[in-house]
Amino acid sequence: MKPTVFVTRVLPDEGLAPIREACDVDLWQEESPPPRDELLRLAEGKDGILSLLTDRIDQELLDAAGPQLKVVSNFAVGFDNIDIPALTRRKIPAGNTPGVLTETTADLAFALLMAAARRIPESVEYVKNDRWKTWGPMLLMGVDIHNATLGIVGFGRIGREMARRGRGFGMRIFYHDVHPATPEDEAELGARCVEMDELLRDADFISLHVNLTDETHHLINADALRAMKPTAVLVNTSRGPVVDPVALEQALRNGEIFAAGLDVTDPEPLPADHPLVLLPNCVVVPHIASATKVTRGKMAAMAAANLLAGVRGERLPTPINPEVYE
Ligand code: DGY
Repeated sequence: MKPTVFVTRVLPDEGLAPIREACDVDLWQEESPPPRDELLRLAEGKDGILSLLTDRIDQELLDAAGPQLKVVSNFAVGFDNIDIPALTRRKIPAGNTPGVLTETTADLAFALLMAAARRIPESVEYVKNDRWKTWGPMLLMGVDIHNATLGIVGFGRIGREMARRGRGFGMRIFYHDVHPATPEDEAELGARCVEMDELLRDADFISLHVNLTDETHHLINADALRAMKPTAVLVNTSRGPVVDPVALEQALRNGEIFAAGLDVTDPEPLPADHPLVLLPNCVVVPHIASATKVTRGKMAAMAAANLLAGVRGERLPTPINPEVYE
């Protein structure tokens, strides 16, 4: 008998094909995530669940799934949607997709940095709305990227790739992380570890690359925004709730900072009439940092590998809670 699994959305074939070959699959076919009652219903009796960051995997879900559940494989590197301690208590391994999306995510973070600094979406709208009548000495002026200071909050894989991109533009690199990099890594990346206060005060660009935890929830609040330069640009490709959206709206509206580029928001999705969407100095894209064909294919293959290892009782290639194997 094949193992039974629930895959909560249609994935690239690199992941779906091997899962279909090895398992009996319940696949949620719609574009929107399964509503909670469907998630609970379809989890019931499964050996494995392949979840997305839009699916809450918690105690209630584990109870609904029942004792047969052997693995939860998340199609994302982030896992704030999963109650990891609840899984660990039941000795259920959870997997994620680290590594394969690092550079793609940093590419998008840098694209947002540039778009917000040089007012690209606003300029495109200007042309589309037929407002381009002449060359203007002060038309749509932005802020310089080259030789500016880039402050990176969270110096993990993606933060470090951001540093590499900044170096390519001749930027001075500051970072803040509870675990500073080694002197060798700092030298290679040309990055200096600073306190958060200094980073907020001195950086021209602030890019967020932390996990969402109790400590990082609203890390960028009204006080943090007030501490930034009025010319600062904030970029968030981590998780929406790392930034207080009300405080950000006020800071952008009052000119406390120059602009923001957001791939992630709180809530997600943001409705089209949300103030952050309407503000001209806020560039919002719909959580697409890892969205290239190649990268999503690699993420799907990795999520499938974790799922299949889990249902076979093998160690996951990339477990989030390796302590379940102790
Ligand atoms: C992740 O993997 O955590 C991203 O947010 C989506 O790729």
